[in-house]
Formats: sequence, structure tokens, C-alpha cells
Amino acid sequence: MSLTAKWRGRPIFVRNRTPEEVQAAQAVELQELKDPVARNANLLGEQPATDLARSAGEGRENWIVMIGVCTHLGCVPLGEAGDFGGWFCPCHGSHYDTAGRIRKGPAPENLAIPTFEFTSETIVRIG
Ligand code: FES
Repeated sequence: MSLTAKWRGRPIFVRNRTPEEVQAAQAVELQELKDPVARNANLLGEQPATDLARSAGEGRENWIVMIGVCTHLGCVPLGEAGDFGGWFCPCHGSHYDTAGRIRKGPAPENLAIPTFEFTSETIVRIG
């Protein structure tokens, strides 16, 4: 299941990934990535864009929370779409995988992950 919320005027994608989607993202070698940086504001410094570093962390690997703004020119990508089953930005054809990492197309960076925390099993606080 996925939903889009609004935060500071921008869309936030929250997706509860299936085990297959997590496995697909975990199977990707870092060398295959166009942008090898996690872009996760919850991590210190520049971390590699492993699936774990893109997710909500250990024990919550199924959850991904991202700013839903394409890193090319700022359009809002479509969920569960594109060649990698993640997100697809149709205006110029950027494909993101199930961890929100750019895999094909003109976008230069992975979708950004804002600071967030789970305050309970069902509530996520952004920012
Ligand atoms: S703004 Fe998304 S591909 Fe151009």
C-alpha cells in the first residue's frame, strides 16, 4: 500500500513495500546505481544507497518515506510504475526503483528522504 501526504507544500510518498519489492531493491548492486548516495536526511554524512539506507531502517525495511519530487525538474512521479516497479516520472522519463533510486532517465539523484520517525506502529512524523 502507498499513499501521498503533503508536507511543507511538497508531496511525501509513504509506501509499505511487499517482500518482493524489498528483495528486488536489495538485490541491486551498488555499481548499478546512477546515484550511489542514500540521500537520507536521517543518516549522518553521505551513506551508500543500499536498500536498508533508503528504508525506514532495521525492522522497518518494508517502509519507505520520500519527498515525491523528481530530481530532474521537480515533477511528481507516479507510484508503482516504470521499468523498475518503483516510481515513474512521465514528463521526461525518469524511472526509480522500489527504493526510490534513480535507475534510468535524466534525473540525477535518488528521491530525497526527509527526516522522519515512527511515533507508533501506524504513525509517522515527518520533519
Ligand atoms: S521532472 Fe521528472 S523526468 Fe523530468
